[in-house]
Amino acid sequence: MLAELRERHGGIKVPGAPRAALSKVFEIILWGELAAWKISAQLADRLVPLEAKMAATSQAHDEARHFYVMYDYLGELGYRPTRIDPRSQRVLDLVLETDNLAHKLLGMQLMIETTARTIFQEVRERRIEPVLADRLPYYEKDEARHVGLGTQHLPSLMRGMSRREGWAALRFQLRLLFWTLASLKAMEPDLAVLGIPASRLLHMGRDKQLAAFQEMWDGVGERPAVNDAIQRGLGAVEELVFTNGDTAGWRQKIARARAAFRGVPAGE
Ligand SMILES: [Fe+2]
Ligand SMILES: [Fe+2]
Repeated sequence: MLAELRERHGGIKVPGAPRAALSKVFEIILWGELAAWKISAQLADRLVPLEAKMAATSQAHDEARHFYVMYDYLGELGYRPTRIDPRSQRVLDLVLETDNLAHKLLGMQLMIETTARTIFQEVRERRIEPVLADRLPYYEKDEARHVGLGTQHLPSLMRGMSRREGWAALRFQLRLLFWTLASLKAMEPDLAVLGIPASRLLHMGRDKQLAAFQEMWDGVGERPAVNDAIQRGLGAVEELVFTNGDTAGWRQKIARARAAFRGVPAGE
């Protein structure tokens, strides 16, 4: 499939600087796919309802394919993957290592999958490299199905949670969010070379996550108000940390962040 696309486009043509940036961003994706493979195999083992167990089993197969196709693609780019950025590693480790099934599903299906889909969509739409751009729709279709496993199966796990367990799930979500933002910040220079503002990824990722969480809470039948606060908090982080080449002073940035948290445009 990769060979076919390579032939159609007459090889992989991308100049030096974007090639290096693309390799670095997709190295994180590569290790993410490997982690997703392991995590979905854990889910296939642990989930009890047959339908969910089968979905996780087929996800493990998808992620295995995503991993080796990405490995071959990076080879075509002339890149030899070595190690992942430690902040991204932290995101993956949190989900790999938790024994809590609800945390694992929430972290993998609703958070990691939506983050990956956001990066795929942006790189595809900008057609940074045509072979990759034509391959990514297959990834996106699979990852959308994987989000579905979370939105369909999480509500039954969430409904059975005590108040304390609910807070623990929220704490887990926040830790994951913190490390996801840190790894996005680390990726910011490479994304800039590709012409992708990190703030835009954050914005799009937030919308995708919001939609997935909304679907999940619809299944539970209630939506904790604290989730709205998290979303508004992300808007504030976007204004403060991801400057997007903006030269505004700190006072102005803080004013914008406060406005984003209150949900009103700055200056009102
Ligand atoms: Fe994947
Ligand atoms: Fe996936």
